[in-house]
Amino acid sequence: MLRLDTRFLQGFPEALSQHASLLEEARERLLAKRKTPGSMLGWMDLPEDTETLREVRRYREANPWVEDFVLVGIGGSALGPKALEAAFHEGGVRFHYLDHVEPEPVLRLLRDLDPGKTLVNAVSKSGSTAETLAGLAVLLKWLRAHLGEAWRRHLVVTTDPEEGPLRAFAEREGLKAFAIPKEVGGRFSVLSPVGLLPLAFAGADLDALLMGARKANETALAPLEESLPLKTALLLHLHRHLPVHVFMVYSERLRHLPSWFVQLHDESLGKVDQRGQRVGTTAVPALGPQDQHAQVQLFREGPLDKLLALVIPEAPVEDLEIPEVEGLKAASYLFGKTLFRLLQAEAEATYRALAEAGQKVYALYLSEVSPYAVGWLLQHLMWQTAFLGELWGVNAFDQPGVELGKRLTFALLGRPGYGEG
Ligand code: PA5
Repeated sequence: MLRLDTRFLQGFPEALSQHASLLEEARERLLAKRKTPGSMLGWMDLPEDTETLREVRRYREANPWVEDFVLVGIGGSALGPKALEAAFHEGGVRFHYLDHVEPEPVLRLLRDLDPGKTLVNAVSKSGSTAETLAGLAVLLKWLRAHLGEAWRRHLVVTTDPEEGPLRAFAEREGLKAFAIPKEVGGRFSVLSPVGLLPLAFAGADLDALLMGARKANETALAPLEESLPLKTALLLHLHRHLPVHVFMVYSERLRHLPSWFVQLHDESLGKVDQRGQRVGTTAVPALGPQDQHAQVQLFREGPLDKLLALVIPEAPVEDLEIPEVEGLKAASYLFGKTLFRLLQAEAEATYRALAEAGQKVYALYLSEVSPYAVGWLLQHLMWQTAFLGELWGVNAFDQPGVELGKRLTFALLGRPGYGEG
């Protein structure tokens, strides 16, 4: 369950009816593109894809020997799995992410791993990202050196269904390869095999995750007053003059979620619009309560240039009482209360303190940090982003700035066809 609270934002939800036609038109424009090839709206259909779920489960069951799972990928190919695995890992398999190219941590990882118990998952939609191919090459050499011909069982690929160097490599070597649907881009791919495969090895409840995402689809298409993604998109739209959008999550299990959101928001919406204007707001990740002791001072007394979204769980899955300690009188107000009660009080205190300081702030309450609620939240945020793309007149599904960086890297390293090395 996901619930919006705008108690400190004057004029909301009245603004909803005032902007009804703007929102309805944005939704119609978006949905009208749904069947147009290349519009990259395939993420809307991922929660219904039970065939892929079965394929992922079969693969998981066929590979009970895996003790270490190494995901090689970057950006949208790593941030979603990392966020969900941290939240719902049920123990057993250990996870490692090669989403960087710093040599020392790579060497440390290789020293620690047992190749015979390791599964490498190379993830890239384009199949050509330099960081991912470099990591794959290093791991491949290591697997081959230790396992000889048996290496093939230790590498699984997740990539475009037909094209790209990684697909071609998988076919040439006869590797198991999962498909990221053509119409699904990197930062919208968390509910494709990009996220589902690692989560199957993490033992997460995939049915509940997808069920939650289906609920988000339902609310996105619901009448305006019940359409949560249209409401939060309007909130961001009405505050687009504030350059900073803080996304603060009160959950240690969801500690990597803000980074996933930052990519989704910034890479989708930071663009030149149809009129040639630069648009976008800068998403800033924050974690509660840790950042109460780091960023919240600035949020409270620094510039009033922010829209803050607080994501707060309403109930724990498990809780722990704070026991009484003799000789620690200063903490007696805590004794007998639970850790979750403290977490909730901190979130509420921050919420009130920010509103009192004059910052624009709202809360999104999660019924609890469960696969169902988080699946709902992720898909909700994808809809929010897609609606904002329409409201701001940008294509939320391309990333010309990122592609430019990739091309310049290729040129600097002498990739044929991209200039000199
Ligand atoms: O959202 C996106 O499309 C990008 O951030 C990509 O995920 C990122 O650049 C990695 O690309 P690829 O999956 O092609 O390796």
